[in-house]
Amino acid sequence: MKTRITELLNIEHPIIQGGMHFVGLAEMAAAVSNAGGLGIITGLTQGTPEKLAAEIARCQEMTDKPIGVNMTFLPTLTPPDYPALFKVIIDSGVKVVETAGNNPAQYLPMLKEADVKVIHKCTAVRHALKAQSIGCDAVSVDGFECGGHPGEDDIPNFILLPRAAEELEIPFVASGGMADARSLVGALSMGAEGINMGTRFIATKEAPVHENVKQAILNASELDTRLVMRPLRNTERVLNNPAVERLLQKEKDLGSDLKFEDIIDEVAGIYPKVMIEGEPEAGAWSCGMVAGLINDIPTCKELIDQIMKESEEIITNRLSGFLKN
Ligand SMILES: Cc1cc2nc3c(=O)[nH]c(=O)nc-3n(C[C@H](O)[C@H](O)[C@H](O)COP(=O)(O)O)c2cc1C
Repeated sequence: MKTRITELLNIEHPIIQGGMHFVGLAEMAAAVSNAGGLGIITGLTQGTPEKLAAEIARCQEMTDKPIGVNMTFLPTLTPPDYPALFKVIIDSGVKVVETAGNNPAQYLPMLKEADVKVIHKCTAVRHALKAQSIGCDAVSVDGFECGGHPGEDDIPNFILLPRAAEELEIPFVASGGMADARSLVGALSMGAEGINMGTRFIATKEAPVHENVKQAILNASELDTRLVMRPLRNTERVLNNPAVERLLQKEKDLGSDLKFEDIIDEVAGIYPKVMIEGEPEAGAWSCGMVAGLINDIPTCKELIDQIMKESEEIITNRLSGFLKN
């Protein structure tokens, strides 16, 4: 399949693996890229420029296909050394960066100069237009269904994607709720030129996370995510568990008095406990509603090949079949 996204990123299939904290390691990104999609290393999981450089090098040993690096801008008092992290990305020869969380404008000149393509992930059409106006090459449009941070507008992809298509000139991928060929064909029909998947890629053989996490996603239905941190305007969609229920109770009890410190036990330092030590109930971790569509643990190649094969079947048989009387 050829779209403006496959052309822009120099990949075979219009499927991207979104940055995921403690999941987007070299093994994950290489497996997706080797399968013809775009694998993405999550920059902040490494944290320091030295560690990020080493992780990119490890990934480049595992694949000679294009890979990307996610750089998430977080609301924090002690920000990581973003300029040095971006320099590492450029020096390593990586040609795609996925930015998220805030406006990446100040880093665009250095990325452009190095011919690095920038995909900015956003949850609102106005943010996508802003990304376009500052010179991003593409956007990832993240609907309300998504795992992680859906923003505060709560617009699901059935509305958000056609709205993005109405306004944008640069290509965009659909993100949030994407799992299979039906997602890809649906997204293409709404104007996207590819899909970005998070949760679906965690339940793959190569995802470098504990089996308990994959099993938790398989066991979950579309009813099993919750939105946390809404009172802090830092909403995150997470998998429900007893720690999340405790957190939500605190939000309810404290109302507008809630501060980050009140919920620190349920949200801080959780990812290594969940992803490495295999304790999915240790606290709140991102997961999309799409968990309801995930029932197997294929390799990334099996997953991507199946999406592409079934997409062709849907387009050429099912959809065109409707046109024949
Ligand atoms: C466990 C997990 C961790 C994530 N961490 C990040 C992150 O660090 N930075 C980021 O930009 N997005 C992060 N995301 C969001 C994904 O990149 C992607 O946008 C989202 O998962 C898409 O929705 P889906 O899960 O329905 O596919 C994370 C998602 C999950 C499930």
